[in-house]
Amino acid sequence: MYGSLQAMPADPILGLLAKYREDTNPHKIDLGVGVYKNEAGHTAILDCVKKAEQYRTDHEDTKVYIGPTGSPLFNEQMTKLVFGEHKVIDQNRVRTISAPGGTGALRAAAEFIKSCKAGATIWVSDPTWANHTGIFQAAGLTVKTYPYYDHQQKSLNFEGMLASLAQVKADDVVLLHACCHNPSGMDLTNQQWQQVVELAKSIGFLPLIDMAYQGFGEGLDEDAYGLRLMADNVQEMIVCSSCSKNFGLYRERIGACSIIGATPAATDIALSVLLSDVRVIYSMPPAHGAAIVETILSSDELRQQWYVELQEMRDRINGNRQLLVDKLTLNGVTRNFDFITHQKGMFSFLGITPAQVQQLQSEYSIYMVGSSRMSIAGIALSNVDYLAASIAKVL
Ligand code: LMR
Repeated sequence: MYGSLQAMPADPILGLLAKYREDTNPHKIDLGVGVYKNEAGHTAILDCVKKAEQYRTDHEDTKVYIGPTGSPLFNEQMTKLVFGEHKVIDQNRVRTISAPGGTGALRAAAEFIKSCKAGATIWVSDPTWANHTGIFQAAGLTVKTYPYYDHQQKSLNFEGMLASLAQVKADDVVLLHACCHNPSGMDLTNQQWQQVVELAKSIGFLPLIDMAYQGFGEGLDEDAYGLRLMADNVQEMIVCSSCSKNFGLYRERIGACSIIGATPAATDIALSVLLSDVRVIYSMPPAHGAAIVETILSSDELRQQWYVELQEMRDRINGNRQLLVDKLTLNGVTRNFDFITHQKGMFSFLGITPAQVQQLQSEYSIYMVGSSRMSIAGIALSNVDYLAASIAKVL
C-alpha cells in the first residue's frame, strides 16, 4: 500500500525548528516559528497559567468524555473575550465550541463550510499563513487569493484588496485576519475595516475571521475591533480563535470556533452541523487547555494577572521592532526599515531575497521563513547586535 508514496518536504515553518535545534553555533537565533520568547530566549509558562493548572490539579475529579462542544464555561468565556459586550450575544445568535488549537478550529470551520456548500470558494490574503491553504483544500474547498501585502511599498495594497473582493460571489467565503496579520504584520485600519464590512454587507459573502493573536497587537479590545464591527453588520459569520499565543498554551492545543447565524434557530441548526463535522474529525477537543483558560478568565485575580503578562509580551515585541531598526542603522544599513516599527504582532517580512535568507541561515545560523518572515519575539538584547551586523553583511 505504501509503495507509491513520495516523501513530503518539511513544513516551511515547523521544519525550521528541527534545523535550529540541530545547529551547534552558540550565536544561533530563532526567528522562525511564531512562539513568544522572553529576553533569555525561553518560552516560559505564564504565572497565571501555572496557578490555574495547580487549581485544576487540586479540583479535577473525572476524566470522563466531555462531548464535541468541549467545556461550556470555556465556550462562554471565549465568546465574551472575542466579541466583548456584543449584540450577537444578547440576540442569542452566536455559538462557540472548544477546538484543538486555532488550526483545529479552522479545520472544523472548513468542514462546516463544505457541509454548507461542497467545493465552495474561499478567498485568502496574498500572502497568508502557510497552513491556511492546506487546511481549506483538505476539506475540498477552492482557494483563491486577494492582493494584500505590497512587498515593494512594504505596506498594504488596500485598493487591490478591495477591487478583488468586489468580484467575490455571495456564496463565497472570505478569510480575514482579525489582527497581527501572519506573515506580514500589516493590519487594516479601523476605517479600512469599515470599507471591507460595507463590501461584505453589499455582496453577502461569508466572512471567516481568524484571530490567532488577540492582545498581541494593540490590546484585547482594539485587536477585535474589525471582527466586532463585522459581527455588527452581517447575518452570518465564523470566527476561529486561538489561545496558543496569548495564553502561551501552544502544545495544549486549545482554541475556539464561533458561528454567528441570522436567527437563534438558524444558529442552532448550524451548530448541530458543525458538531457532526467535529465528531468525524477529532470527535471532541482536549480539555486541559480549556480548563486553564476558563479558570483564568473566571477569576478576577488570575484575569488581572493575565492582562499584565499579556501586556509584557506585547510591549517586548513592540520594543524589539524599534530595537532592530535602530541597530540596523547603527550597523550602517541605509535601506529604510522603519516599516517594521509600524507593523503589528509577531511577524514582519524583512524584505530580503530567498538567497539572502539562506545565507543568513548557512553562514550566521539565523533562522527565518524563506519568505523572510521574521518572528520578532526571537530578538533579544543579547542577540540583536549580532543579528543586525549579520543582516548588514548579507545586504
Ligand atoms: C506560525 O505561523 O509560525 C505559527 O502559527 C505556528 C504554526 O503552526 O505555523
